[in-house]
Amino acid sequence: MVESEGRPVEELTDTEARDELERLAREIAEHDRRYHRDDAPTISDADYDALRRRNSAIEARFPALIREDSPSSRVGSEVSEKFGKIRHALPMLSLDNAFSDEDVADFAKRVRRFLKLAEDAPLAITAEPKIDGLSLSLRYEEGKLVSAATRGDGTTGEDVTRNAMTIGDIPNRLKGKAPSVFEVRGEVYMSHAAFADLNARQAETGGQIYANPRNAAAGSLRQLDAGITRSRKLEFFAYAWGEASEVPGATQMEVVEAIAGFGFTVNPLMKRFDSIEGLIEHYRAIEEQRATLPYDIDGVVYKVDDLALQRRLGFVSRSPRWAIAHKFPAEKATTILNDIEIQVGRTGALTPVAKLEPVTVGGVVVTNATLHNADEIARLDVRIGDTVQIQRAGDVIPQVLGIVADKRPKGAEPFEFPSVCPCELKTEVVREETASGAQSVVRRCTGEFACPFQRREHLKLFVSRKAFDIDGLGDKQIDFFYDDPDFPVRTPADIFTLKRRNDEGMKKLKDKEGFGELSAKNLFEAIEARRTIGLDRLIFSFGIRHVGEATARVIARAYGSFEAFHEAGLKIAAGDEEAAAEMDALEDIGGAVITAIARFFSEEHNLKLVDALVAELEIEEVEKPAETSPVAGKTIVFTGALEHMSRDEAKVMAESLGAKAAGSVSKKTDLVVAGPGAGSKLKKASELGVEVIDEAAWFTLIGREPG
Ligand code: IVH
Repeated sequence: MVESEGRPVEELTDTEARDELERLAREIAEHDRRYHRDDAPTISDADYDALRRRNSAIEARFPALIREDSPSSRVGSEVSEKFGKIRHALPMLSLDNAFSDEDVADFAKRVRRFLKLAEDAPLAITAEPKIDGLSLSLRYEEGKLVSAATRGDGTTGEDVTRNAMTIGDIPNRLKGKAPSVFEVRGEVYMSHAAFADLNARQAETGGQIYANPRNAAAGSLRQLDAGITRSRKLEFFAYAWGEASEVPGATQMEVVEAIAGFGFTVNPLMKRFDSIEGLIEHYRAIEEQRATLPYDIDGVVYKVDDLALQRRLGFVSRSPRWAIAHKFPAEKATTILNDIEIQVGRTGALTPVAKLEPVTVGGVVVTNATLHNADEIARLDVRIGDTVQIQRAGDVIPQVLGIVADKRPKGAEPFEFPSVCPCELKTEVVREETASGAQSVVRRCTGEFACPFQRREHLKLFVSRKAFDIDGLGDKQIDFFYDDPDFPVRTPADIFTLKRRNDEGMKKLKDKEGFGELSAKNLFEAIEARRTIGLDRLIFSFGIRHVGEATARVIARAYGSFEAFHEAGLKIAAGDEEAAAEMDALEDIGGAVITAIARFFSEEHNLKLVDALVAELEIEEVEKPAETSPVAGKTIVFTGALEHMSRDEAKVMAESLGAKAAGSVSKKTDLVVAGPGAGSKLKKASELGVEVIDEAAWFTLIGREPG
């Protein structure tokens, strides 16, 4: 079950939408990182798609809130700091998907309509396997390989030149007469045999075991030691090109043949067709061979063959209009459900996991599958001992589709979902209510940051940029301290007692591996610097459900002091209707926030942690927003590079002056503050006739000195 499947988008208030977009941007970026950079995804493709769909739905309803870092304008993931960066001369994009024969027919119709071709006009389209690996762009100058870059975010990739040079299918010099600049693009992959070998070796040496060949290929290419990459037996299929001083052909087929002539391996199953029927037939033929191919594929890619037509068709946001990926349906198998284990996620959501009798699905041994949530268990009526059908859709976490009814063992009882968290606190598990009063499908542990399963992740939120923003204390350090026996950090207050524990104890942080005198000192100073904290950041740092950055700011401004907020929270938890109504009356705050606050303040463990934390802090009260400022009530967009403030800071400043800071320019925008490098937003503003000023004029307008 993904977090985002919450309330209907139509019911969201502005603030909730903004918070959710913020959360979705963060979550999707994190999943992108896990998938692309760490090669270790933690959710299924379907759940990932659901997150993206939810993000798009909210953006469609709240276009003014679209973020600069919106996932819809990004492909892949940011690049890892491990490698140098390479900016792609031409972006590396992704492909639109087709899931049925009708989708493919629609694709051809769209192409024809766009080109103003008659329905029966000839149109040549190529079909080739979609290789399940990772894409790589290889730049050749004067025939010599000068750089190799991963896709990264589509614009900038990682420099993996040395590693790419170790792959046998990638020539260091092009054969024959090649254009002076030519970028070859294609897929790095690992064969099933190499994958099995690698995992066997890894198991022996205690190294990382990879979930599938794709992750293994990505992990092997992205090694700092190119010698390791060499030992991993990677392969490469060339299927496209990037920048080219001259394109060696007039059709897709011709250029791919030329690329083969330069010394590359191209896929032998690539063929050209003049009809949709031909494409579909080839798709079926490839699907039939799938199980016997020595490498993973997850569909068939169709491309308009004529390059002149490709140029006319161009691109729509992330993908070319002239190509589409026809995906294979998920692979299925049946096996026995041995047990149902309850796992607790980062936000306390309880996820039932099916423990299965091991079974091979699409070449991968599956032992776990997600059951999503309690409702799904009830809907499928799955019981321990049942024979279940499972599906794996090229992703990591397979799912249970249903049961084989006539194989149910005698005496199998319906599964009873636990009413307390499996953590040692045995906190109550609740079923949330959505704003419309409906019951959410998610069961959640109410332990918040007292629940050991949630604590580690809460600590990461706690130190993150929008909360306490402690320099030198990020996810990695939290993981370290959380598990460290000498300097355990298990609660937020523990962060602020670190120095005391260091000074008074026998063990010293500077003696710990990875620290040393200077970094220990810097860390203590960074923590001290945050002992004084704004009320809005403090409230956000509690990680209360539905209380994101914007909501925390509204609450902090309304209550002014921690004491007032704390008192209101306790009253709301005790069922005081007046206190709840007072909070409910705040702009953009609704039932979901009130319920979450009530729940947070009614949990004894939370209150203890908050008390211990607050005892360590100086809390700054928040300025009430000016009602009479020159920008009160206005909607403002900041864009481009700002010299005296970060964009986040600018937003907070605008809000403290009673203005609304929006992420994109629309008819509702009153003012755009643009710094150097402002692009599309500036253009939009001038199209719509919105007033545009620079940063200096902004400070003059609000009567403040910069800095
Ligand atoms: S063509 C402009 N052809 O699929 C896009 N891509 O989902 C050019 N892929 O990023 C891509 N096999 O990594 C193309 N035969 C093939 C492919 C293929 C695998 C990957 C590629 C791309 C992704 C899009």
